[in-house]
Formats: sequence, structure tokens, C-alpha cells
Amino acid sequence: MSTNTALSSTETYSLLSLSLACIAVLSQTFVGGDGEPVVASIAFSGLAFASCYALIRWLGNAFIRRGFKGKDLSKQKHTEIPETMGAVCAMVYLFTIIAFIPWPFYKDIVIATSGGGNRDVIKELDEVETGRLLHKFPHNKLASYLSAILSLQSIVLLGIGDDLFDIRWRHKVLIPAVAAIPMLIVYFVDFGVTKMVVPIPLRPYLGELFDLGWLYYVYMAMLSIFSSNSINILAGINGIEVAQSLVIAVLIVLNDVLYLSPFTPYPHPAMDSHLFSIYLLLPFIGVSLALLKHNWYPAKVFVGDTYCYFAGMVFAVDGILGHFSKTLMLLLLPQAFNFIYSAPQLFHIVPCPRHRLPHFNVRTGLMECSRVEFKKPLSRPIAEVLKVLHRLRLLDVEVDAEGQVVSSSNFTIINLWLVWFGPMREDRLALGLLAFQTAVGIVGLLIRHRMALLVFSVDNW
Ligand code: UD1
Ligand code: MG
Repeated sequence: MSTNTALSSTETYSLLSLSLACIAVLSQTFVGGDGEPVVASIAFSGLAFASCYALIRWLGNAFIRRGFKGKDLSKQKHTEIPETMGAVCAMVYLFTIIAFIPWPFYKDIVIATSGGGNRDVIKELDEVETGRLLHKFPHNKLASYLSAILSLQSIVLLGIGDDLFDIRWRHKVLIPAVAAIPMLIVYFVDFGVTKMVVPIPLRPYLGELFDLGWLYYVYMAMLSIFSSNSINILAGINGIEVAQSLVIAVLIVLNDVLYLSPFTPYPHPAMDSHLFSIYLLLPFIGVSLALLKHNWYPAKVFVGDTYCYFAGMVFAVDGILGHFSKTLMLLLLPQAFNFIYSAPQLFHIVPCPRHRLPHFNVRTGLMECSRVEFKKPLSRPIAEVLKVLHRLRLLDVEVDAEGQVVSSSNFTIINLWLVWFGPMREDRLALGLLAFQTAVGIVGLLIRHRMALLVFSVDNW
């Protein structure tokens, strides 16, 4: 079986002109002498979008032939479409951020090597050779950047492995923590700040700063485990994996821009970390948009676990090395809620079917919440808790004549949304959840920047 993969002529011309425009912009960035990294990053992201868009199309059939395919369970016909397209995204992304390396460091490279017509520093050339000037090169920043690439590469390996072999949950759960080691080391050497600013009400007990010590590293490793897995379990309807990641990425960029805008006092101490964050996120937005175009309802390709892990790790790396892991948690609140809400099934307190994605009603063409049947009767306390959740409208529980709980809706916010708002078409369901994600994120950011001043004495700009 094969799907139509040729690019239409409109697509070809649009992608081609976008690429040419981006290349033209890139070639101009060295003229000013500092490489204009932000402009270059935007141009690189345009190129990443165009290449990813075309590659997804061209590689679709090859992926199907190699067995990377999946059935869309929520359509009238269960046609097979390419799966694991997140691997294409991740590859294009990695090559983009690797090719981008010279730009943010261009200024430093020019000065350190006294090239690029920097006549005023020529007399220091011998110092360059003896290495006394080279120390001015920001090796630490380059190390951060390289460690981010290393961590992301490891997570992509895990993702592809999982898509190939369906690795068990208990086996793969620790892998993101291992993948995080390179950036944790850089964090340790570079910043080593493991102190947390204590909220005012707790200060009499803990003091102004509380040193978490090595626990801080555990926290950061857990953050990478959490953010990569949480996107994978908020999944199962067309477009939701990519679109939620895009919402999060755009909100982080928005948060970064707040630190970089001309209105903030210049030069802002956190500026470099936020520039770093932008360099990592813009190409991510580029490749994700290309994927979303093909994964949105009705999906032509699936993203695979590779994309979910990769996206989660991009956020973790970005949040940790950009020093805004708490802000990141605010943006991941829907994912965190879904994770906690899923916990009874994830930890097998109640049975967890292989798929928890909502149920497609063939007759109406609408999505309904999917259910888990309790073949074995539940223990009394668990059954009672489920009944309470039902009364709180946090679950849809079915009880038989004897008062036994026989089934309930699956424990994901996608199903909960359907319990609340009734059956709806797949794309409306996705849009609703995305609106929710956006609203929570914006409120989170507002709280972060306004209320932080009430809970903490100064905003840690
Ligand atoms: C996770 C979820 C699982 C959910 C699945 C769907 C947990 C613990 N696991 O499992 O409940 O059912 O993701 O992504 O919460 N598919 C569709 N339409 C879509 C997306 C996926 O039909 O829009 C189906 C396709 O058959 C596809 C398969 O889901 O091949 C992919 O599932 P996979 O990513 O392997 O599932 P998990 O990540 O293991
Ligand atoms: Mg998955």
C-alpha cells in the first residue's frame, strides 16, 4: 500500500521560495560582523520547516515499507499511514541546530582568532597562540549548547527504539534521566546553583534561600522523565501531540521575548539564557509546524513516540539550561494533571488497556470517551473512590444492579473532556483541548510575572 507523496506544484514553489529567501537572509548575517544570531535562527527555522515538510512527504512510503505504519483507529476506514514521522522532524532539527553553531559564537570566534578584519586586536595574535586570549571564548556557553544536542540525540535514540520494539514502560522510564546527564554536568560546572528562592510565608522557617543540594539534580532528572513521558500519554487523537508541543513552545518563546524586548533594562542578566532558549525553540517550532500540517485531522502521518519524547526533552533541556524550570512546569500543568489523573492506570491500581484513546462511534462519526471494563470486581475502597469521582464529575462510572462498578471512562483528560462536553468530532476535541492548554499557559505566565512579586520579594528576572 502506498500513499500519495508527491508535492503539488504550489507546495514545491512555496517551499522553494521560502528556502531561497532564508538562504539569502543567512548569507547577509555575517555582513554586520556579529552574525546576527536571532535573524539567522529564524532563517534556519524556515529552512528546517521546508526540509521537514518535503521529507515527510518523500519518506512516507519508505517508512511504510520498513513497517513504520499505524492504523488510524478513529476513522471509518482503518487505513494504514506512516508512523514515527517524528524521527524525520528530530533529524532535521538536530542537523539544523548543529549547522547553526557558528552563528551565536561568530563574534567570539572573530575576536579570538582576530579574523574577519578585526585589525584592532591583531597585536594580540601571539596571545591567541599561547592561549591567553582564547579563554575569552565562551567555552561554557558552547558546552551548554553541545550538551543540549547530546541529550536530545540520546532521547531520539530512545524514541526510535521504542517505536521499533515497543519498549516496556518500566524499562524506558529511566532513559531520559540518563540522557539528561550531559546537561546536568554542564549545569553543575557552570552554575551549580542548587538554591531555591523560598516564598515569603515560608521564610521564617527556611530562610531566604533554601539549598536543595543534590536533590536539585534529582529534580532536574525527574523533570526530563516527566516532560518526555507526559506528552506521550496526552495523545491518541490527530494532531494533539504536535499541537500541544507547539503551544508550549510558542509560550516559552513569548516568555523569552519578555526578557529580551527593548523595554526590559539592558543588558538583562538572564538575557543569554533566554537567547539560548530561543535558538533551541525556533527550529523546533519550524519542524513541528511541518509535521502538524500532515498530522492534523484527518491525519496523513502519525508522529510516533519519537516525537513525543523528543518534544518533551526539548522543553526539559530548554528549561534547565535556560534556568526557568519552574515556569516550564506552569506551562506543563495540563500534562501534569493528565499524569496524576492517569496514575491509577499507569501504576495498575485499576486495569490499563493498551490503548486509552477515545472511542470512535462509527455510526455518528463522533468521538466518545473510551471505557475500561472491570472483569474482576474492584476492591471495596477503590470502587468507592471511583463512585466519589463519578459524583464529582471527574469520571464516568457504570454500576450494575448490585452496585458493583463494572466499567469507567479511561483516566485521561481527553476522555474527561468528552465526559464533560459530550461526543464531538475529532478535530473539535483537539481544538478544545488546545484552547485549554493555551489558556492555562497564559494564566500561568501572568501569575508567574505578576503574582511572583507577592509570593517572592523580587521577580528573579
Ligand atoms: C500512548 C497511550 C495510549 C494511547 C496511545 C495513542 C498511555 C499509557 N498510553 O501509548 O493509551 O492509546 O498513546 O497515541 O496513556 N493512533 C490513532 N490516532 C491518533 C494517534 C494514534 O489511531 O491520532 C493510534 C494508531 O494506531 C497509532 C497508535 O495509536 O499507530 C500509536 O500508539 P503508540 O504511540 O505506540 O502508543 P503509546 O505511546 O504506547
Ligand atoms: Mg505514543
